[in-house]
Amino acid sequence: MVAERTPETPLKWAGGKRWLVPYLLPLWNAYLQATPHGRLVEPFCGSLSVALGLQPERALLNDLNPHLINFWRQVQRGLTITLPMTNDKTLYYAHRARFNALIACGAAESAEAAQLFYYLNRTGFNGLCRFNSSGQFNVPFGRYKTITYWQTADFMRLAAHIAHWTFTVGNFEALALQPDDFIYADPPYDVEFTSYSAGGFSWADQVRLAEWLSAHRGAALLSNQATARIVDLYTACGFELIYLDAPRRISANGDRSPAREVLAARNVDIATVKTQSNTGKVHEDMVKAALISGGYAVVEQVKIGKRPTGKIHKIDLIASKDGVNLLISLKWQQTSGTAEEKIPFEVICLMDAIQNSEHYHRAYLVLGGNGWSLREFYTRGGLEKFLAYKDSVTIVSLEEFVKLANMGRLHQKAD
Ligand SMILES: C[S@@+](CC[C@H](N)C(=O)[O-])C[C@H]1O[C@@H](n2cnc3c(N)ncnc32)[C@H](O)[C@@H]1O
Repeated sequence: MVAERTPETPLKWAGGKRWLVPYLLPLWNAYLQATPHGRLVEPFCGSLSVALGLQPERALLNDLNPHLINFWRQVQRGLTITLPMTNDKTLYYAHRARFNALIACGAAESAEAAQLFYYLNRTGFNGLCRFNSSGQFNVPFGRYKTITYWQTADFMRLAAHIAHWTFTVGNFEALALQPDDFIYADPPYDVEFTSYSAGGFSWADQVRLAEWLSAHRGAALLSNQATARIVDLYTACGFELIYLDAPRRISANGDRSPAREVLAARNVDIATVKTQSNTGKVHEDMVKAALISGGYAVVEQVKIGKRPTGKIHKIDLIASKDGVNLLISLKWQQTSGTAEEKIPFEVICLMDAIQNSEHYHRAYLVLGGNGWSLREFYTRGGLEKFLAYKDSVTIVSLEEFVKLANMGRLHQKAD
C-alpha cells in the first residue's frame, strides 16, 4: 500500500475536469515554487475534481449552485450518512420529493439536504442538476445498472482533505481576489451561435469572465470549448492558447462525443503542456516527467524476464529511489477499448516478476485514458476479492499516480 490517496470526487458533474489534472499539475507546481503559500481560486468549482487533484493548502472555491456548496460545507463538517441509499426508482422519487420540500420550507442548507443532494446526484439521470422555474429539482431517475454509494467513513476521509478550504456561493464576479491568486476558471461551455443563456451562462457572461480574468494581476487559466468566438475573445485579451481533446462529456441529451477544448493562460507558462492528449505516448511522457520531478531515477522499456506465458516481459518504466525499485506498467484505454479486460493478467505478470526477483520491490499499474468502465472497480481494489495482490501491486488512475509521483511518495509504504 502507498501513502494515503486523495479521494476522488463523490459527485458526477457535467463538465467535470478530472482528466485535465495531469496537465494542470505541472503549472500549479511551478506557481507554488514561486508563491509557496499561494492560493487556488476556482470560481466554478463544480465537483472539485481539479482542487482534489491539485491538493492546494489554501483554496477559495465558489459556485453559483447553492446546493452544491451546501454539500461541500456539510462534508467539511463531517457528513454522516443516515438516509437509505439504494438504486431504486421509488426511493429516488421519495428522496427527490423530500429534497424539494426542504427547498420549499427554507431548509436547503442542512445536512439532510446534503445527503439527499448526494443521493440524487448519483442516482438521477446523467448526474444532472436541473431545477424548474419554481426552483424544484426535476431530474428523472437515472436507470444505472449499479451504483456504489459512499459511506460515512468515505466522507470523513474526504473531509480531512478539504478541511481548510473556503467555499462560497455566488457569481464569479463577486469573488474577493488577492493579486497573487492562481485562478482556474471552468465556466459552463460556450455553445456557439447563441447569445442567450446556455447552462445559465450567456455569451455576455463569457465576455465578462474574460475581462474579469484579464484584470487579475496573477496567474489565470481558463478552460472552455474551443469555439471560434472563445478563441477570438481570449486571443484579443492577450492570453496564450493551447488545444486539447476533451475525452467525452455529458450533456442533457446524453451526447458523449469528444470535444475540442481550449486552455487559455495569462501569467502562466503553458508552453510546457503537451497538446496531443489522447495518445499513450503523452501518457508515458507525463508519467516520466512526474517521476523525475519527484526525485526518482527512471529507466524505460526494460526486459525484466519472461511472462508466465513464456513471452518476454518488457516493463514500461522502472523508477528507483532510496533503494526501492518500482515496476510501472502503463495501460491506456480509449473509448470502447479492451485494455481493461487484460488487467488481471497484467497483475499476475507483475506479481510474478516481483516474486522471481529480489531487485523489484513493488509495482504500479497505471490506468490512463477515458474509455474505462472498470477503472473505479480496479482502483478501489475490486480485483482483490479474487486475487491477493495488494502487497505487491497498486492499481491506480493516471491522475493519482502523477500526483504521488510528483510528491515523491510512491515508494513509501503506509503504516
Ligand atoms: C463546467 S462546470 C465546472 C466543473 C468543475 N471544473 C469540475 O471539475 O467539476 C461549471 C460550473 O459553473 C457553475 N456556474 C454557472 N454559472 C456560474 C456563475 N455565474 N458563477 C459561478 N458559477 C457558475 C455551475 O454550477 C457549474 O458547477
